[in-house]
Amino acid sequence: MGGAKGSYGQLLLLFSLFLSRRPQLTISWSESAAAEAEAIAAIPCSGHGRAYLDGILVDGVPTCECNTCYAGADCSQLLPDCPADADSGDPLFLEPYWQQHAASSAVVFSGWHRMSYRTTGDYFISVELEKHIRLLHEAVGNAVTDGRFIVFGSGSTQLLNALVYALSPENASTPASVVATAPYYALYKLQTDLFDRREYEWKGVTSKWVNASVASMGNFIEFVTSPNNPDGRLLQSVLGGSSVIYDHAYYWPHFTAIPAPADEDVMIFTASKVTGHASSRFGWAVIKDEKVYQKATEYMQLNTMGVSRDTQLRVLKLVKVMLAEMRGEGGIFEFGHKTTRERWSKLSKVISSSNRFSLQQLSPLYCTYFKKIIDPSPAYAWLKCEMEGDVDCSAVLREAGIISRAGAVFEASSRYARLSLIKTQDDVDLLLQRMEALVSKEDVASF
Ligand SMILES: Cc1ncc(COP(=O)(O)O)c(C=O)c1O
Repeated sequence: MGGAKGSYGQLLLLFSLFLSRRPQLTISWSESAAAEAEAIAAIPCSGHGRAYLDGILVDGVPTCECNTCYAGADCSQLLPDCPADADSGDPLFLEPYWQQHAASSAVVFSGWHRMSYRTTGDYFISVELEKHIRLLHEAVGNAVTDGRFIVFGSGSTQLLNALVYALSPENASTPASVVATAPYYALYKLQTDLFDRREYEWKGVTSKWVNASVASMGNFIEFVTSPNNPDGRLLQSVLGGSSVIYDHAYYWPHFTAIPAPADEDVMIFTASKVTGHASSRFGWAVIKDEKVYQKATEYMQLNTMGVSRDTQLRVLKLVKVMLAEMRGEGGIFEFGHKTTRERWSKLSKVISSSNRFSLQQLSPLYCTYFKKIIDPSPAYAWLKCEMEGDVDCSAVLREAGIISRAGAVFEASSRYARLSLIKTQDDVDLLLQRMEALVSKEDVASF
């Protein structure tokens, strides 16, 4: 005992010696890089843009990249008649969160950091990152990861195809049929079409196959997006077969109540929608069956030899911040949910006084993360044009200076259009202004 205590004391002494010398050790080669990163990040761009370390230089000076509808060297100029762009799912709503956590989320690494193909785990994954992803799911309570395998992908986009491949039966006489319930995320079809014909092919909307014979069901791969993109509904498998890919990109308290941990055989998540770092291209799949895991891993190895180790390091840092701040004042889900809830509530208020437009119906739900009933906070508004003549809702919006994603992209009626609520505050402010103007015209027309 005494010996163990003695060596512990020696260890402490060594550690405090290390700490006392630390300033000399750490602030040497990283000093100028850190100063450069801070200097660039501090450029204000009038609050309507940002400057980046790898941005375009003009006369050697870094330039501002302005938000949509803002221009000028410092992004201070609001462009008149610029359309409100509510098209993409660019998750910049979380940018202010990371600005508030500048110190804890910064990553500094040497020029020789992890140059090898190898990393700490098998199949090119970081053991620490995998561990922290499991901790994140446990802390949020949105997915069961015990006894499951985890595969990393360059964005969940890469995993979509890896999993279709992994779930397709080998040596089957006919290709597996891939389906999704409309309105669905368009990439499921686009990717399947791109890679298809040998082992799998796109077979359209799930509803077409509900009454197909049970014998043929074994060969189906069903995509289920929950909450759904575009309409935010929590969905379940319709076909109830064994090969279902649950895309849980939005199953985080930013966008939905979490009624229970997801416990399906194959689940996909993405950093793009939880930390907001779409640029890092990082997604992961949680898989129950070892064979499916092996096949998905084989795909990833042959395809890219794993996810960028730089990305894995960055995501590790972000997950650590999320875990450290969880449920506190600096909690990312507290921030994210408040932001999306307010945006949804403002848009709902505008639409509630309209006879021309309606929104999807979403109800308050009990959330096990917040431990209370919470109001809806979807990533997207799924807008319907109700008037007989408004058959192309996206065109109606375009006329009013709003860029949306047309219903047809989701294999839904063109009476629908998707409006993104997760972009910058500038984008959402302009969208609300334009929507208000459009709805107020109805009042004038009805007099
Ligand atoms: C339902 C759904 N799945 C997957 C993705 C792709 O995400 P990633 O950036 O991880 O490729 C998106 C992106 O918008 C999405 O909406």
